[in-house]
Amino acid sequence: MAEKKLWGGRFSESTDAFVEEFTESVSFDKELALYDIKGSIAHAKMLGKQGIIPKEDAEKIVEGLTEIENEIKEGRFTWKKELEDVHMNIEKSLIEKIGDVGGKLHTGRSRNDQVVTAFRLYLKDQVSDIINLLTQLQKALLQKSQDYIDLVMPAYTHLQRAQPIRVAHYFLAYLEMFQRDKERFEDNLKRIDMLPLGSGAVAGVDFPIDRDFVAKELGFSQIMRNSIDATSSRDFAIEFLSNASICMANMSRFCEDMIIYSSSEFSFVELPDKLTTGSSIMPQKKNPDVLELIRGKTGRVYGNLVALLTIVKGLPLAYNRDLQEDKEPVFDTVKTLKGSIIGITKIVEGLKINKEKVESAAGGFALATDLANYLVEKGIPFRQAHHIVGSIVAYLVNQGRELESITLQELKNFSSSFEEDALNLLSPYTVADRRKSFGGTAKDQVLSQIEFWKDKLG
Ligand code: ARG
Repeated sequence: MAEKKLWGGRFSESTDAFVEEFTESVSFDKELALYDIKGSIAHAKMLGKQGIIPKEDAEKIVEGLTEIENEIKEGRFTWKKELEDVHMNIEKSLIEKIGDVGGKLHTGRSRNDQVVTAFRLYLKDQVSDIINLLTQLQKALLQKSQDYIDLVMPAYTHLQRAQPIRVAHYFLAYLEMFQRDKERFEDNLKRIDMLPLGSGAVAGVDFPIDRDFVAKELGFSQIMRNSIDATSSRDFAIEFLSNASICMANMSRFCEDMIIYSSSEFSFVELPDKLTTGSSIMPQKKNPDVLELIRGKTGRVYGNLVALLTIVKGLPLAYNRDLQEDKEPVFDTVKTLKGSIIGITKIVEGLKINKEKVESAAGGFALATDLANYLVEKGIPFRQAHHIVGSIVAYLVNQGRELESITLQELKNFSSSFEEDALNLLSPYTVADRRKSFGGTAKDQVLSQIEFWKDKLG
């Protein structure tokens, strides 16, 4: 059945069915419903308080909107595509419920300032949730760091074994990245947390509205100063998508590490059974699907960022209907990002590390740098020391031997500067603990980082 449009006054024929289907957004923007109602309630109260509409009318509107809110929460509300978007659906239902007085709600307001108000309220909540989820992830990483403070593993550069590091140091690296992600979101909040309502369609409002009151009611800490900007800017959402993309990139790197480390070739980590899946054909397989999907979904989040950047790039000021396309990329990103953070947190919590494997991989030629530095301490120029140790490595590799198997006599054959104490350097633990520079992997350094994070994360 065709619904009478709220804006139908100037039209002599009804909307083409294709246009209704093509232009509707309620199928996805109903996600904003509760925020739209919140915005409308604040607006109605303000209209009543300012005497723009009678107080009793404002009260009726608030009551009607509260009823609709309950219907939506309980899943009893019927959304109609013919009514285009979430705002029109709610307003039409309000008028059906309380009669013509419902038609006063839209006084001194346009959908242009209405929609972006709901969108900002929504994003404010979501970003706060995301910040909390990131804190949970950081806590899981901190716990793992504490659990494995006494274990070493190899650090890789170019995916070649480089130097021994404490496992805790590795986990803390990701903790740092997620801290910056959080800070970016916190900063983003400042620019989301601004009230656009009261800007009208583009030029402001000709009724004596009180924007301070509305801002307070809705919990916005700032009021947007320029009505043209307020109705047409989406940079707060682009910034969110950009922050989400960076966060996904950081998570995706962690996923990649865990995928490699859990392969039989590495066998460094064991992923919890309940977070992996089997193969329908190969009984031996335990697949890291959650990690792979997070890595894959990183691509779609980047896509969402590019989508919104592209949507706004050629738009003349101010509002254009193109802006309706801002919502799906943001909704999709919120869902993907939250799911990914939760997934990684669970993986970190359930992760077990194969002590023998990582420890033995941390030794061997990963200790070569320290042997070279030993010679430097004896006064040999670094470049020369590097060359000497390189020759030792080649000599052992030729014989199929590990670095730990070298004898003092053999060392002396390469350089007379080697003494008995050089053999102490053939343990990854000794070598790791020599990296005492601030931010390095020595146990004391890592312990003080752990203390720092315990303090910060509470
Ligand atoms: N659904 C629209 C959007 O998301 C609401 C604003 C429509 N405004 C208008 N003047 N047609 O942008």
